[in-house]
Amino acid sequence: MARRERRRGEPKTPDKHRLYQASVQGPDGDIELFDRIYRSHRGRAPLALREDFCGTALFSRQWVLSREDRTAVAIDLDSETLEWGRRNNLQTAGEPAARRVRLIEADVRAVRRPKVDLACAMNFSFCAFKERTELLEYLRAVHSALRGDGLLALEHYGGTEAVVAIEERREVDDFVYVWEQESFNPITHETRCHIHFELPGGERLERAFSYDWRLWTLPELRDAMIEVGFAAVEVYWERVDDEGEGTGEYELTEAEENQEGWLVYVVGLK
Ligand SMILES: C[S@@+](CC[C@H](N)C(=O)[O-])C[C@H]1O[C@@H](n2cnc3c(N)ncnc32)[C@H](O)[C@@H]1O
Repeated sequence: MARRERRRGEPKTPDKHRLYQASVQGPDGDIELFDRIYRSHRGRAPLALREDFCGTALFSRQWVLSREDRTAVAIDLDSETLEWGRRNNLQTAGEPAARRVRLIEADVRAVRRPKVDLACAMNFSFCAFKERTELLEYLRAVHSALRGDGLLALEHYGGTEAVVAIEERREVDDFVYVWEQESFNPITHETRCHIHFELPGGERLERAFSYDWRLWTLPELRDAMIEVGFAAVEVYWERVDDEGEGTGEYELTEAEENQEGWLVYVVGLK
């Protein structure tokens, strides 16, 4: 069948990276939080960042824009995604800021330099490592890339609804973000998830992104971080409102009731 021609004036399908960024990334709030956590421990602002599994490097862009003395290295395996980030996030940030971001196409486990103040891995990306040996390899690499007073922040999720097949919908701007947990294996904690987008006019971008992960538990993650040499590991828990919606406010905590869904930052102190 002939492909349907787009009529003049008809909007073209929005870019999947743009939809993703609008749906699941909010770097400015995260930067404020990491700045506060870092200052509370080290009494100064973190300047050099390493963004692991950076995707389009939106976090690094906002990091270098937040202060003129900030730099970032952003690491991802996927050249197409990095190239999209270079064109749409770095080239639009202005020349001086863009020059302070270095994109590295590599496996995060293979990168141990430069040394940085703060390393982060957002949106649960370390769950791509399903074997404990792989997770340890990653944690060792990022630990050795931290300066003596460095911090690692890993974003993680869980809860009673994280371990079942389920589909969640959320309106974002003029489209709908759909998070599908296709399967969860309680024996291995392997989970297959997808992101779909429903666009104005009825078009659906099916499986715009797919993930094949192991949903690590917090104690497993904490033990692994201590094993590779982190001196302490803290958990910052996102507070929810009366409807159970995330508020974007995170608090350091040691004990919580389980929830249907929770988001945390697990912070390792070198
Ligand atoms: C869930 S996306 C996260 C993108 C971005 N960090 C964010 O917060 O939205 C996962 C990214 O990790 C990358 N990735 C997966 N395994 C990797 C590895 N071993 N080393 C580097 N990047 C990896 C993928 O290419 C993908 O861009």
